[in-house]
Amino acid sequence: MNFELNETQKLVRDTARRFADTELRPHAAERDRTEEFPADALKKMAELGLMGVNIAADYGGSEAGVVAYSLAITEIARADAAVAVTMAVTNMVGEVIEKFGSAAQKEQFIPRLTSGAAQAGAFCLSEAGAGSDPAGMRTRATRVDGGWVLNGSKAWITSGEFAGAYIVWARTEMPEGDEKLSAFLLDPAAHDGITCGKPEEKMGQRGSNTVSITFEDVRIGEDALLGNLGDGFKIAMVALDGGRIGIGSLALGLGTEALSLAIDYSKEREQFGQAIGRFQGIQFKLADMATELDAARLLCLRAAWMKNEAAKKGGRFSRQASMAKLFSTEAAWRACDESLQVFGGYGYTKEYAVERLLRDVRVTRIYEGTNEIQRVVIARDLSRNGL
Ligand code: CAA
Ligand code: FAD
Repeated sequence: MNFELNETQKLVRDTARRFADTELRPHAAERDRTEEFPADALKKMAELGLMGVNIAADYGGSEAGVVAYSLAITEIARADAAVAVTMAVTNMVGEVIEKFGSAAQKEQFIPRLTSGAAQAGAFCLSEAGAGSDPAGMRTRATRVDGGWVLNGSKAWITSGEFAGAYIVWARTEMPEGDEKLSAFLLDPAAHDGITCGKPEEKMGQRGSNTVSITFEDVRIGEDALLGNLGDGFKIAMVALDGGRIGIGSLALGLGTEALSLAIDYSKEREQFGQAIGRFQGIQFKLADMATELDAARLLCLRAAWMKNEAAKKGGRFSRQASMAKLFSTEAAWRACDESLQVFGGYGYTKEYAVERLLRDVRVTRIYEGTNEIQRVVIARDLSRNGL
């Protein structure tokens, strides 16, 4: 057992922290108000290597591994979770292409993601009628001469309006006549028939872009198929195993920020003639928040370490990724809520960042698989493989 970070991991964490402190936090409240897509910030983050933290240097990535990625997402989320989720989905899209793409797809798409030229990547899995159960999707890719025609609608797609690379899941007919999901990779600007709906007006993470996307007779070539025909569901699940480490790490950032603000405020605010931090009732809140967030951090870093090991030796880390996502998002929710309590009435106003943190953290229990679905994954793994 060794809890020390290596030099690369420290460098990535510190780079992300510096950028978050100087470039993101000062504008986070404004982005929350205006819902402006953080295009400039994303470009700078790409220059710092944050859009491909766990991607090979050959494709412009930082090749720093999953632990470094988890640390970086946490730092970015402390300052602005809307930027962090955009970064997380873009990293996830790049990694899926690196793992399952053809040589040509990797060369065409990954450097555009890591350099920021594509602005962001979009992971187009969910539909209005198929969220927790993506196998029930309706979008279809029909075989035609020289490729496929896509028809259907996706819902809730992060960065859908801005992304220069989409991974789209669709039903496809198999040679045996049955249907399976397949994944396709495309540049939306290069195709007619793709339209985005009005951005969702969200409770939190308002600087991230969330839209529905309609595909109407969209012609894509043979070369758009990502991985093997019929492997789409497994590709999505493998991607989400990694993605859930990112969302656990993102929630951890929000919880950590909330704790840090509460510690500072508890030293400044006086009632009954003394700082509220001198009351044991407040001290116990801070102690519980710190303990739960530390446990969340360990779960996220263990899952990240296991993903690194799985890349070298094979094997799954689904249970550990789901545990990290489940526990971290719930611990972070409690931390943001208790932090707001420490701020009293002031915490309930837009004067203080904790109000935004509480709104931003809520969705982490919903996206990348709701926490009920994380429990489904953990329970199925327990029943198949035991403790
Ligand atoms: N790795 C590899 N293979 C996997 C796998 C994994 N993690 N999970 C499942 N599979 C395989 C199974 O082994 C099975 O293979 P066989 O058919 O060969 O036996 C196959 O996939 C089907 O598995 P299940 O029977 O378990 O599938 P299911 O339909 O019951 O669904 C589920 C399982 C876990 C509930 C899954 O549907 C799920 O994860 N749902 C949630 C969807 C989700 O997380 N969406 C997030 C969208 S992205 C997002 O939200 C972005 C954002 O945050 C910003
Ligand atoms: P439903 O599946 O309808 O679930 C409703 C309720 O039923 C939930 O509480 C759920 O936990 C529960 N439930 C469902 N099935 C079970 C079960 N088997 N056992 C117990 N309880 C169950 N998707 C993408 O593909 N790409 C994106 O980039 C993306 N970004 C998103 C960004 C935001 C801001 C949001 C809000 C969502 C995003 N999503 C994205 C979609 C997200 O993944 C889904 O919202 C999520 O998977 C849940 O699906 P649903 O909303 O349809 O809820």
